[in-house]
Amino acid sequence: MRRELICTAPTTPPQFEVRRAELPRPGRGEVLVRVLASSVNPIDAKRAAGYGQRLLALKGAGRFPLVLGNDLAGQVLAVGPGVSQFTAGQQVFGLLATGRAGGAHATHVLVPQQQLMLADKNSPPSALAALPYSFVTMWLALNGAGLSLSNARQARVLINGASGGLGRLALQLLTAWGSRLTTICGRGQRQLGLDMGAEHSIERGPGNIESLPKDFDAVLNFGSWDDEALLSSRLGPKALGQATTVHPLLGHVDRLGLLAGAWASRKDWRAARARVSARAPGARYAWTVFKPDREALEALATSLRERRIALPVGVALSLDQAELAFEHVSAGRPGRAVLLP
Ligand SMILES: NC(=O)c1ccc[n+]([C@@H]2O[C@H](COP(=O)([O-])OP(=O)(O)OC[C@H]3O[C@@H](n4cnc5c(N)ncnc54)[C@H](OP(=O)(O)O)[C@@H]3O)[C@@H](O)[C@H]2O)c1
Repeated sequence: MRRELICTAPTTPPQFEVRRAELPRPGRGEVLVRVLASSVNPIDAKRAAGYGQRLLALKGAGRFPLVLGNDLAGQVLAVGPGVSQFTAGQQVFGLLATGRAGGAHATHVLVPQQQLMLADKNSPPSALAALPYSFVTMWLALNGAGLSLSNARQARVLINGASGGLGRLALQLLTAWGSRLTTICGRGQRQLGLDMGAEHSIERGPGNIESLPKDFDAVLNFGSWDDEALLSSRLGPKALGQATTVHPLLGHVDRLGLLAGAWASRKDWRAARARVSARAPGARYAWTVFKPDREALEALATSLRERRIALPVGVALSLDQAELAFEHVSAGRPGRAVLLP
């Protein structure tokens, strides 16, 4: 049998039930994975409260009851027809798209083979499960800002929300790529940016972004949409670009409905894009949205092999203790929250 964590209704605090269901059978190209760990990301805590329902309904992922969770570490139990890269017993980690089939907060999940990677046998599942969703989103944000291994060396990059999960992963990757980093961290966390390899680090607060130079090649906003305009004002004239994961797309659609929400988003995107272009005419501008990405997963596997990527895990709890894991995330407590089904 499969046990799954069902989020029953959009409420704060969230309401859960653990239900039993038949073990699914892998279809063509799918792998049945016994989940050993799955993370609770900030998006899960927000979705449990109803955030994003209207837009995600288009993907079949808006209606409660919901099984949340986008990443996992586990063991292959069985493979469907057409799967050649995996066999039963292997340790793996991977991603689930947000969609009709539901998420990874369960004991067993079906994962398309291109969304799975082989894991090192010695990597603890809880440490692995904290990474795929955040790393892939961070990677997509780097792409969105025009940053890659080929141009990151010596690039001056400003990271907002640097003390969070995405921020720490960007710090680890970009330090390895030789970028020159400035971090904007949470209160009391300035030193963390410096310890993780930033040249300069500040804490967020009134007037602090304005105190930074106006010569950054790229800006990554993982902190707050309220900072978006000020962050753009720090781009240099030849900047590569700016990307944000904290854009108002889902919130606008929740509040205004599909059409008006899409219209408000377009208006905000165009205004933000115009600010970036005014500073740096050739720069890219992107609102990053998570989706499974093979190149990013492979980059994560490489970074893991080279032991340069990790996130601290704050709590690791069973499905029956899910409320505590969600509370940990909602309260912004240090370290990732992981479920051990
Ligand atoms: N669009 C997408 O598809 C997508 C995908 C993944 C994540 N996200 C979003 O991206 C953001 C970062 O994700 P994460 O996993 O890194 O989250 P996280 O671990 O909770 O970190 C959030 C970071 O933002 C900082 N922050 C909080 N409130 C802020 C404010 N008002 N102004 C500036 N900074 C603030 C936090 O500072 P402290 O250190 O002081 O807490 C922390 O550094 C989250 O909002 C998440 O929901 C979006």
